Amino acid sequence: MNNSVSEKIEYLRKKINHHNHKYYVLSESEISDYDYDMLIKELLELEKLHPELITKDSPTQRVGSDLTKNINQIKHKTPMLSLSNTYSEEELRAFDQRVKGGLETEEEIEYVVELKIDGVSASIHYKNGVLYQAATRGDGNVGEEITQNIRTINSIPLSVNEAKPFEVRGEVFMPIEEFKKMNRERETNGDKIFANPRNSTAGTLKLLDPHEVAKRPLDIFTYYILSDKLDIKSQMEGLEYLKRLGFKTNPEYQLCKNIEEVISYCRNWENERDNLPYEIDGVVIKVNFIKQQQQLGSIAKSPRWATSFKFKAKQVITKLKKVTWQIGRTGAVTPVAELEPVLLSGSTISRATLHNYDEIQRKDIREGDFVKLEKGGDVIPKIVSVDLTQRLVDSIVLPIPKECPSCKQELIKSESEVALYCVNVNCPAQIKGKLNHFASRTAMDIEGLGEAIVNLFVDKGYLKSFVDIYNLPEYEEELKSLEGFGAKSIDNLFASINKSKEQPFHKVLFALGIRYVGAGVARKLATAFKTINNIRTATIESLEAVDEIGPSISNSIIQYFANIENVKLVDELKEKGLKFEEEISESNNQNLLGLSFVLTGSLEKLTRDEAKEKIILAGGKFVTSLSKKTNYLVAGENAGSKLEKAKKLGVKIISENDLNELLNN
Ligand code: IVH
Repeated sequence: MNNSVSEKIEYLRKKINHHNHKYYVLSESEISDYDYDMLIKELLELEKLHPELITKDSPTQRVGSDLTKNINQIKHKTPMLSLSNTYSEEELRAFDQRVKGGLETEEEIEYVVELKIDGVSASIHYKNGVLYQAATRGDGNVGEEITQNIRTINSIPLSVNEAKPFEVRGEVFMPIEEFKKMNRERETNGDKIFANPRNSTAGTLKLLDPHEVAKRPLDIFTYYILSDKLDIKSQMEGLEYLKRLGFKTNPEYQLCKNIEEVISYCRNWENERDNLPYEIDGVVIKVNFIKQQQQLGSIAKSPRWATSFKFKAKQVITKLKKVTWQIGRTGAVTPVAELEPVLLSGSTISRATLHNYDEIQRKDIREGDFVKLEKGGDVIPKIVSVDLTQRLVDSIVLPIPKECPSCKQELIKSESEVALYCVNVNCPAQIKGKLNHFASRTAMDIEGLGEAIVNLFVDKGYLKSFVDIYNLPEYEEELKSLEGFGAKSIDNLFASINKSKEQPFHKVLFALGIRYVGAGVARKLATAFKTINNIRTATIESLEAVDEIGPSISNSIIQYFANIENVKLVDELKEKGLKFEEEISESNNQNLLGLSFVLTGSLEKLTRDEAKEKIILAGGKFVTSLSKKTNYLVAGENAGSKLEKAKKLGVKIISENDLNELLNN
C-alpha cells in the first residue's frame, strides 16, 4: 500500500513540477488554476497522512513548514565579483581592445550580451539534484544565507536532473506591474510603500518569515552556472544548460561576433528598456569562451572578461507650470517646481525640489519653461536643464521672493547660507511644520494628531504653540462637533495627548525642534546634562565637551535659550507635566555601565531603537561600528558582515537573550 502511495506522491510531484516550469519559467499554461490547485491539494493531503514521505524538494515545501532562520554567513566558494562600467561606445571599444590585448593569440572573440537586470544577485547551490543553499552577494566574499526565501520563488526548481554539484547565479527581481500592485495593496493596508522594485526585492530577501516572502512577487533570471564537475565551455552553453535544467533565463541574450554588434545591442535596449515588464539598468557584456575568460582573469574585484554598459539616467521633458515656495519648520524657504504631470520610470512626477534660489539662477529656470527631468537610481527626480529653444519670448527671470508666502513677513538671506528664511515666529506655515514635528512618532508620538489635523487645527485657531496641544481638551465640545470628527476620535486624541506626557526627556528635547538638535543629539544632551535647566545654563565649552557636539549645535542651543519666548515655552510645557529631566527609575539599573554594544541583524523581541534605549538607560554605550574596544556584539537574525568582523577582532558575540540577562541581572 505504501508503495502505491509513494508512487502516487511521486506522480503528483512530477506533474506539479511540470506545470510549475511551464507557468513560471515559460509563461505558458496547460491546465486551469483550479486543476493545478487540486493537484497541490491532493499532494498536501497525502503528505499529511504520510509525513515520512515528505522530501525537501516537494513542491509543497517551497514555504518550508519549519521557520529555520537565515542567520548564517556563507563564504562564497568562488567570489561574487562586480563589473566594471562603461558609459559610451568609445569605452566599449576600449574594453574590446583590452580583451584582445589580454589574449595571447589573435583568436576570434565572441561576446554574449545580456540585459543587466536591476535587482539583487543571489547564489544558489545544488547537490545530488536538490537545492540546498542560497546566499546574497554580501561583500562578494561572504553573503547572508537566504535559502528559505529563495525556495519560495516559483521559477526556481527545487530539484533538477543533474546530480553533480553546481552553483547557479542570477538576479532576483520584481516585475514592475506586480511591484505596483503590491505597493497599492500595502498603501491600502497602511503599510510602508517601497521606493522601487529593486529596494523592495532587497528588503524582501532579508525578511525572516518565508511565509511573508512567498506573498511577494519575486522572480529570478539566472545567468551563470559554475561547477568544476560540469564541462561547460562557454557562456552560451551555460545559459542553454540552465534552460535545459529548468531554470529561467532572460530571453533577450544574444551572441555577438564583434564589438559593433555589441554596440548596436546596447543602443537598441537603451531605447527599448521601457517596453520591458521588469527594470534593467544596462547591458552586461561577457567574453563567450570560458577558456578565454580564464586567460583574462580579473583585476581587483571585477573580471577583465566582462563589463557592463550603463544606460544614461532616464530623462523626460515637461512644462514647468509654476515655482512655489515652501516654508519648513525652521523657517527655511525652498523653491518647488510644479510640473505638468509626466511619466518617468514608471511614476508620475508633478513636483520636484529646486533646492534654493542659487540653483534657479545657475540653471536659469523660469516659469513656463520646458525642463529636462531626470531620475537616477533614486526616487527623487531632479531638473537637469532648461530647453532654451522652447522658451517663451516674454519669459522673465524669477524674482527672489521678498516676503514669506505664508505670513508675508520679509525674508532674510544670511551671508553664510544659500537658503532664505522667514524669521517670524508666528508664521502659520512654520507653526504647522513645528507642530507636525512635535507630534510625530519619533518625538512626542501623539497618535491622531497627523499632518492634516494639525493643519486644520492651526487654520481654525485651536493651535498656535505646543502648549495649545495640551489645552485642546478645553474645546472638547467644539472639536466633537467639527465635521469629520466623531466623539470617539476626539476621545482617542485626548488619550494620546495625555499619554505623550510620559515621553522621556530626550524625546521632549528633540520635539522642541531646536535647530541641529536631532534625535541622537537630544539623547546625548539629555544623558550628559540630565535636566533642561542644566542645558539652558550650559556654556559653549561645556556643550562642546559632549561627544559629537560641535560649534553649530552648541551655538544653536545657546541662541535658542537666549530667546525669552523659548524659555517661557519650556516652563509652560513643564507645567503641563512634560518631562524635562532624565528619569532614573528603579528599573533602570546601571548594569551595563562602561560597556559598549554594537547590534547586527534584527532582534526578535526588541526593535533596534528599543534595544538602543535599554542599553543606554542601563548605562551602556550604543555604538554603530565595531572596534577592538567594543565589549559586545549583539547578533540578531540575518546578522550582517559585522559578525565576521567581531570574530576577527575577538569581540564577544551574544544573543538577544544574553543581552536581556545582562540587562536584568
Ligand atoms: S554577471 C562577474 N549578468 O550586475 C560577473 N550580472 O555589477 C558578474 N546583474 O552583481 C555578474 N544582470 O547583480 C551578470 N545578466 C547579468 C546581470 C548581472 C544583473 C547584476 C549582478 C551583479 C551586477 C554587476
